[in-house]
Amino acid sequence: MKAAVLILSDKGAAGKREDLSGPALIDWLEQHQVETLRYEMIPDDYDVIVSTLTNWCDEGFCDVLITCGGTGVSPRDVTPEATIEVVDRILPGFGEAMRSESLKITPMAILSRAMAGIRGTCLVMNLPGSPKAAIENLEAVWPAVAHGVDKIG
Ligand code: MTE
Repeated sequence: MKAAVLILSDKGAAGKREDLSGPALIDWLEQHQVETLRYEMIPDDYDVIVSTLTNWCDEGFCDVLITCGGTGVSPRDVTPEATIEVVDRILPGFGEAMRSESLKITPMAILSRAMAGIRGTCLVMNLPGSPKAAIENLEAVWPAVAHGVDKIG
């Protein structure tokens, strides 16, 4: 399985905050035999997110495109909206499972609006931004990802 990791962070993209989530995700994926072919950090800008997701999916180099950040309730958090814009079909179970499992860890989990869907043959999934939250949420859905990717085609 091949992955792409897209970090959404205004501060990170402006060089004001070191990205710890991207390396943590790439490391976790590598431990699960998944190679990350592209990793970028961009601001929480709806149009930039839509065009990046669209381009990466349509280039067809990754089976799974993982976004990290911008799922919360701050005014600039627009990752779920941008994801809905680009996907052909929504996978509501991903967000449901993430929130359900994460609520066992923190009541703040309800603040993540993470969602997922399919564009072409790419599975797009949102994760919350902190390294801890990102890994916890990824672990909640991971058992279904390989089978999902296999079925998508
Ligand atoms: N989910 C898990 N498993 N662990 C966490 O620490 N943090 C929450 C939530 N989901 C968290 C979590 C918090 S504090 C927020 S604000 C939301 O994810 C959204 O995060 P984001 O805006 O960085 O995407």
